[in-house]
Amino acid sequence: MRLQERVAIITGAASGIGLATARRFAHEGAAVVVADIDQTGGFACAEEISAAGGNAIFVETDVSEERDLRRMVGAAVETYGGLDILHNNAFWNAPGAAQDISEADWQATLAVTLTAVWQGSKLAIPHLLESQYGVILNTASVHSIVGLAGSAAYQAAKGGVLSLTRAMSLELAPKVRVVAILPGAIETPATKQVPAAAHAEFVSQVPLARMGQAEEVASVAAFLASDEASYITGAGIVVDGGYTTR
Ligand SMILES: NC(=O)c1ccc[n+]([C@@H]2O[C@H](COP(=O)([O-])OP(=O)(O)OC[C@H]3O[C@@H](n4cnc5c(N)ncnc54)[C@H](O)[C@@H]3O)[C@@H](O)[C@H]2O)c1
Repeated sequence: MRLQERVAIITGAASGIGLATARRFAHEGAAVVVADIDQTGGFACAEEISAAGGNAIFVETDVSEERDLRRMVGAAVETYGGLDILHNNAFWNAPGAAQDISEADWQATLAVTLTAVWQGSKLAIPHLLESQYGVILNTASVHSIVGLAGSAAYQAAKGGVLSLTRAMSLELAPKVRVVAILPGAIETPATKQVPAAAHAEFVSQVPLARMGQAEEVASVAAFLASDEASYITGAGIVVDGGYTTR
């Protein structure tokens, strides 16, 4: 097992990529703090892991609230005695072109998708520095590196997540590794909301000719969080079926 005796926090772990990653990390031996604003889904995830013989707790967390992030990190340390992996994965996307989006929607998107990555990391770093295996794993997006019209705030935030990953990787080396995952089109509840035509158009540009599964991102996350990725830091690892190679 790749993550035996590691303690991991995963934000946005009630659904989609975060849920698949929580299951995978637990399967690899980690104790998992399931952090999400969704109480029902978060409890269900932690209960499922525990019922399968793994180790997990749910901490209700709105990542845009500093006090919630503080409680999330505190719960990991109090319950499991430390913290080895912080996976910043939760997001919020208020769609809209730059010329249309309201300031409130812009700020809400930035708060959950970018500011929380910085603030959660800031609170976790003292504990990660105490770990021999400290890792920050940030879920960015292919839209950190290529554009798509109509979600300006989300893309600005995801570009920021990749840049913040690089900055923190230099600040925290050689003690803590900091890595980003850049998913392409992955089948999750979030992508079910995308209109069918836009969806089909996007998938038509994917060389592997299909959407990815959340488990295909989770397996990369497990690798990056483990010692097998011990020489990887500051990188953005693309998991997109070849979309960005065109
Ligand atoms: N699915 C894709 O195609 C795709 C592509 C690129 C990047 N991503 C990224 O992957 C990550 C996961 O996306 P997903 O597709 O699994 O989405 P999802 O909607 O299935 O899951 C997102 C989770 O975040 C939680 N969340 C939302 N606001 C929150 C808040 N304020 N505090 C705490 N939790 C909050 C939700 O409750 C939900 O459980 C996101 O960072 C997303 O930007 C996804």
